[in-house]
Amino acid sequence: LFAGPVDFVKGVVHMDGLPPPNRPEVCFAGRSNVGKSSLINALTGRKGIARASNTPGRTQEINYFALGEQAYLVDLPGYGFAKAPLAIVAKWQALLKSYLAGRQTLRRAFCLIDSRHGVKDVDHEIMTLLDRSAVPFQVVMTKTDKLGPNALLPVLDQVREALQKHPAAYPELVVTSSEKGHGIATLRTIIAGLD
Ligand code: GTP
Ligand code: MG
Repeated sequence: LFAGPVDFVKGVVHMDGLPPPNRPEVCFAGRSNVGKSSLINALTGRKGIARASNTPGRTQEINYFALGEQAYLVDLPGYGFAKAPLAIVAKWQALLKSYLAGRQTLRRAFCLIDSRHGVKDVDHEIMTLLDRSAVPFQVVMTKTDKLGPNALLPVLDQVREALQKHPAAYPELVVTSSEKGHGIATLRTIIAGLD
């Protein structure tokens, strides 16, 4: 699946603008700055195909990337704090929620959690939305290169504990660093295994 071409398809600002639901897709959700766009770059091996930046609120549209003609990777705007005007943030948050609750061809949502921070209240809110819509989701831990060797395990415990509340969650966590390439092959394999 990841051996072929990767193309940016479009940035969507309204539910009407979503591509026809004619292939499976997976999406990447998480707080602003957690590393969603960077993860898409790492997965596709195309640095810069998704725009990443240190400013929270960088991605403000639903960005579609095509893996050949077989599947879409969907980069979502973040939730939580963003450096953008409130009215604009409110619009993209509403779009994000509509998308997560109502996309037929969404096979799995990957919920990204910063390894330094664990699961926050805003993450629970999004996970609860996914539970209600019966969208299966899986947690991807990001930025593990920023943690010392003993700091990861307690955070993983906190996340596993937090996931107990969420019936739509897969218990298995994917531990990654887009910077170092850790866990990227594992995540590719998971995505390639979805039909
Ligand atoms: P929004 O679009 O604003 O919601 O952010 P995002 O979740 O797409 O985050 P993005 O990929 O833009 O990354 C945010 C910042 O974190 C950037 O400065 C990245 O370089 C950095 N970053 C992302 N992944 C990693 C990682 O694995 N390790 C390290 N050290 N930095 C990372
Ligand atoms: Mg982004």
